[in-house]
Amino acid sequence: MDDTWDVDELLEVARAVALEAGELVRSGRPDRVEVAATKSSAQDVVTEMDVAVERLLRERLALLRPGDGLLGEEGSSTASATGVTWVVDPIDGTVNYLYGLPSYSVSVAAVVGEPDPSAWTVLAACVHAPADGRTYTATAGGGAYLEGRRLTVNQPASLLDSLVATGFGYRVDRRSGQARVLTHVLPRVRDIRRLGSAALDLCELAAGRVDLYYERGLSPWDLAAGLLVATEAGARVSGLRGLPPGAAMTVAGPGELHAELCTLLEAAGADTDPAQ
Ligand code: IPD
Repeated sequence: MDDTWDVDELLEVARAVALEAGELVRSGRPDRVEVAATKSSAQDVVTEMDVAVERLLRERLALLRPGDGLLGEEGSSTASATGVTWVVDPIDGTVNYLYGLPSYSVSVAAVVGEPDPSAWTVLAACVHAPADGRTYTATAGGGAYLEGRRLTVNQPASLLDSLVATGFGYRVDRRSGQARVLTHVLPRVRDIRRLGSAALDLCELAAGRVDLYYERGLSPWDLAAGLLVATEAGARVSGLRGLPPGAAMTVAGPGELHAELCTLLEAAGADTDPAQ
């Protein structure tokens, strides 16, 4: 850990803005949420609330931490003058939010280094699930917590005893590859869960509510906060073939099982898309 930074202060800021944003997300949800725009495909939706919450996060962080950088899912990109960059996802799990399903979160992380998962260090993180009020926090070297309870990942005896969370991208070619990879994974594990928020997947792993997690196609804002929560709860988080976690692949879980899942995913070619 880098001693230059007061990680507890960063965490207080992360928690304060995540909770305020979460209150807006929850209380401002209309009965029927409308799609405001689409991104990588017609299934990759943005609601007006995604945009409003990112604006709130941008304004609050600028007040509380002037000079810090910001990278957000809905387009925020400000260079850092202090070394710290906030990586935020205003609503991770937008499709769940659209349908009124509870598995969505506000994800806020303070990182140093490039705001790219291959080069950053995450110092403090808060993932808040407004629908049920759960708030996961972590600081580098300081552990991961859910409402004051220190978190530790499960240690299942084998892959066959493991509940594995995963997620799917929005592009058709990516999805057909992910469906093929699933045919390699599903027969070898206890079961699969697709919860719909990558940040929460990593936090549920930290809390022992799933055993392993993998996904291809994550963006920095999907990954930043959950990565620290999972790591501080004892998970290994990596890509495949010795690479760091990131867009090509993210795999998280306890030591040996993490390695076994990586081997399985490498053999399945899970870090590539099918040829068009
Ligand atoms: C999505 C969620 C989902 C994951 C997708 C992400 P969004 O983020 O994290 O679980 O499978 O890859 O894009 O679009 O809801 O912020």
